[in-house]
Amino acid sequence: MSMIDQLEALKAKIMAALGGVKDLAELEALEVAELGRKSGFSQLLKGLGALPPEERRAAGQKANEIKTGLEAAFAARKRELLSASVGALAESEWLDVTVPGLEPPAGHLHLVTQAIDEITDIFSRIGFYRVRHPEVDWDHYAFETLNMPPDHPARDEWETFFIDRPAHPKFGRMLLTPHTSSGQVREMERRPLPIRMIGISKTYRRQMDVSHVPMFHQFEGLLIDKGVSVTHLRGVLDHFARTYFGPDRKTRLRPFHFRFTEPSFEVDITCGICLGTGRLADGSKCRLCKDGWLELGGAGMVHPNVLAAGKIDPEVWGGFAFGWGIERTLMMRAGLQIPDIREVYKSDFRFLQQF
Ligand code: FA5
Repeated sequence: MSMIDQLEALKAKIMAALGGVKDLAELEALEVAELGRKSGFSQLLKGLGALPPEERRAAGQKANEIKTGLEAAFAARKRELLSASVGALAESEWLDVTVPGLEPPAGHLHLVTQAIDEITDIFSRIGFYRVRHPEVDWDHYAFETLNMPPDHPARDEWETFFIDRPAHPKFGRMLLTPHTSSGQVREMERRPLPIRMIGISKTYRRQMDVSHVPMFHQFEGLLIDKGVSVTHLRGVLDHFARTYFGPDRKTRLRPFHFRFTEPSFEVDITCGICLGTGRLADGSKCRLCKDGWLELGGAGMVHPNVLAAGKIDPEVWGGFAFGWGIERTLMMRAGLQIPDIREVYKSDFRFLQQF
């Protein structure tokens, strides 16, 4: 067989194989095997030199023609295979961009944060400004300037956490504030008169049961001005109770004793479950309150000794103060939805998502 016939036969064989190639990997393998340096085609070309000159020229030309034709055929087949694989991908991984998206769960503020915002808002609408005072403070502000000298038995009620450090010669021991009343004299020292503050901070006591937690929040109202009476206190408390709990809720002031207010009161509000009757519709006793009333917190007219400690003349200025627990206030509105105050800090989503 002449060289030209052999080249033609090889071309026919390679073209047939090319038609049967199924993917890019097979195509590459075929190209190396049939046109590479060790292929039959290269071996055939090596034999060109041994041909007589006339025959060599014609065979050389034919060999070039066939090689160019085969390279073009390989390139064309490669394009075909590539476009087929892109089509398959589009079929298996299509995306409908018109489908509405899935909304990720957004979450919400913790119920205590919600209550702090709401309470701040209610008081700011009647002229009180929000303040914060240190949560780690001195005995001086937490007790002494509030008319509770060292060793006074009234201090025991606050079951205080003291910091294990030597006492300050003037300010006494360092402690975790057991009530926001520690901000009263701090505010008197800081502000020009009159004062209308609402101080909200974390407070700490060595207590833990169904209605006590060791870390809780209090909000402290303090108003210092001229000509302030119990009537003003009553008006502010009623305004808060009606706005926060609802227009049908009532408050009452029960005489009490605090060292830093005189007179002092405990503020009660009608129970939201039995609506102040102490009995449920079926005649059974209310599960939340004892007698139709729930205790909100303490209040009173600022004691002259406290004003004097804040360098305010009690002959000219007077005022009222009140201090309540945020978590207890929340519980009073939520009723049996918060049966135990400790639930508020358990971080159980099933509980928190209700609010
Ligand atoms: C006081 O702390 C006074 N400083 C309040 C006050 C301020 C009176 C200004 C007069 C003038 P009392 O110890 O009663 O008072 O606490 C007030 C409120 O804090 C309680 O009614 C309750 O709502 C909340 N509270 C007290 N201890 C805890 C606790 N361990 N866990 C959750 N809430 C508490």
